[in-house]
Amino acid sequence: MYQLSSSVTWKKLQTLAEKTQDDRIADYFREDPERFDKMSLRLGELFLDFSKNKVSDEVLKALIALAEHSPLRQRRAQMFSGDIINTTENRPVLHTALRNRGDEPVVVNGKDVMPDIQAGLKKLEAFSKKVRSGEWKGFSGKRVRDVVNIGIGGSDLGPNMVCRALLNYNHPEMKFHFISNVDGQHIKKVLSGLNPETTLFIVSTKTFSTQETLLNAKTARRWFLENTSAQTDMTQHFIAVSTNQAAAMEFGIKRENIFEFWAWVGGRYSLWSSIGLPIALSIGYDRFIELLEGAYEMDRHFMEAPLDQNMPVLLALIGIWYINFLDAETQAIIPYDQALHQLPAFLQQLDMESNGKSVDLDGHPVDYATGPIVWGQTGSNGQHAFFQLLHQGTRFVPIDFIASLESDEKTQEHHFALLTNMLAQANAFMNGDQKDGMLDYASCPGNRPSNILLMDQLSPRNLGALIALYEHKVFVQGAIWNINSFDQWGVQLGKRLATEISRNIELKSSEYDPSTQGLMEIVRQKMQTQHKESNAGNSSSSAAASKKTTKAAKA
Ligand code: F6P
Repeated sequence: MYQLSSSVTWKKLQTLAEKTQDDRIADYFREDPERFDKMSLRLGELFLDFSKNKVSDEVLKALIALAEHSPLRQRRAQMFSGDIINTTENRPVLHTALRNRGDEPVVVNGKDVMPDIQAGLKKLEAFSKKVRSGEWKGFSGKRVRDVVNIGIGGSDLGPNMVCRALLNYNHPEMKFHFISNVDGQHIKKVLSGLNPETTLFIVSTKTFSTQETLLNAKTARRWFLENTSAQTDMTQHFIAVSTNQAAAMEFGIKRENIFEFWAWVGGRYSLWSSIGLPIALSIGYDRFIELLEGAYEMDRHFMEAPLDQNMPVLLALIGIWYINFLDAETQAIIPYDQALHQLPAFLQQLDMESNGKSVDLDGHPVDYATGPIVWGQTGSNGQHAFFQLLHQGTRFVPIDFIASLESDEKTQEHHFALLTNMLAQANAFMNGDQKDGMLDYASCPGNRPSNILLMDQLSPRNLGALIALYEHKVFVQGAIWNINSFDQWGVQLGKRLATEISRNIELKSSEYDPSTQGLMEIVRQKMQTQHKESNAGNSSSSAAASKKTTKAAKA
């Protein structure tokens, strides 16, 4: 029985946490001039510098031992081979199969799923080429110019982040919009100014049952029919990406316009599937394949590299060191790349919805911390927002800096400033500034760790590798914490209560706490007032209309 917190390696790390609590990261470099070379790794065009961490050689060795003595190797093999590791939903976890560029089969319930995956990619290829070339026409014979993805969570964050990150590769005659929030202002803003003749809606929802997405899809359909004519054929304008074909067809989407994927693809791991349709439409199918190839290269690295030379394993172990032994509660993601401004939000769902768990695989409450609060914002903006706390605050916040070396020739001066700012910040966090005689309020204690991830360029391939790196980091932490990183029972309660409260709001139900009841009353009264006002508005406009028709008739 795997008992993490009573293991010898865990206790060794507890001892080391005490022993090294006064260590200074800067001293590690003085003690070992080779530290940077020893604690940096390159995989293709991705370079990881993990030398600015509060990790001595002895701590690193003990962390590797923790991984060795955990179920990691076995769990990793199980995932890639399609075993049912998402035990509470009785599913395999096979986002890696979606980008499997090798010819080895991946068997689920006795069937090799690779032929289905390849068929799905063929459909994606044919469709994206038709739309991008203009061959796919709307009802009035015009090409698609605006694509609107309607989805939330993993059906939004992944494709949205990738499309924004790779905007330089975007089709010059097409624009991409993402509607996710149920807040009507979101869809209203996106739809205003769009032409229904040249707009393609993609309803992206694994279950086709998510309240926000269904309401937004219905509103989009109504907008389309009201701005064309109720009889207009919406076939050319509504596509679905879902595992629930029946519900998609019931919504009115033609069978041939439904891109399927499978239950063994988790929402937050689904951008490699047909959920990535907006990406293929934006950057082209061939570049979408490059994204998959980059992820595949990281998969191979994760599977084959020794644990102490394994990027996802090292990031995961350093994170475990901070979370479980140095009491870090959050992980900051700070891309020094404005094109990656949505990466922190994507990684928030990936990490927090995967490892925000407190019961282990054996059904026992854990007695150690698990997933951190992941947050972040681009640099250099963060320097003018929250870096003050990071430099002089009382909290211990590990940071991942992410950047790409290459910029286009027009922005070289800016890019140089961006990169030198990042290097300066990582250096300042580590060394601080405590000159003799310096007043405390002005001094920076330093000794604040960071990882630096550098891509040669922000290309589809390198972005694919970066995303897969974090997917596997999350996997490694979950395996060591012995939790299920692939279910999300915690989100079901909120979904159920939202439906219930919206139904009960008229009933003045007393089953809720006084606060909820009081708030329901406030909302109910506002809704009733607005309902009366809009009815009054409608009746006066219809009265005016009928007056107009009467006048017209008399004229
Ligand atoms: O947040 C809960 C969740 O189920 C996510 O895991 C998922 O990505 C999102 O809601 C949307 O679900 P669907 O794609 O089924 O609409």
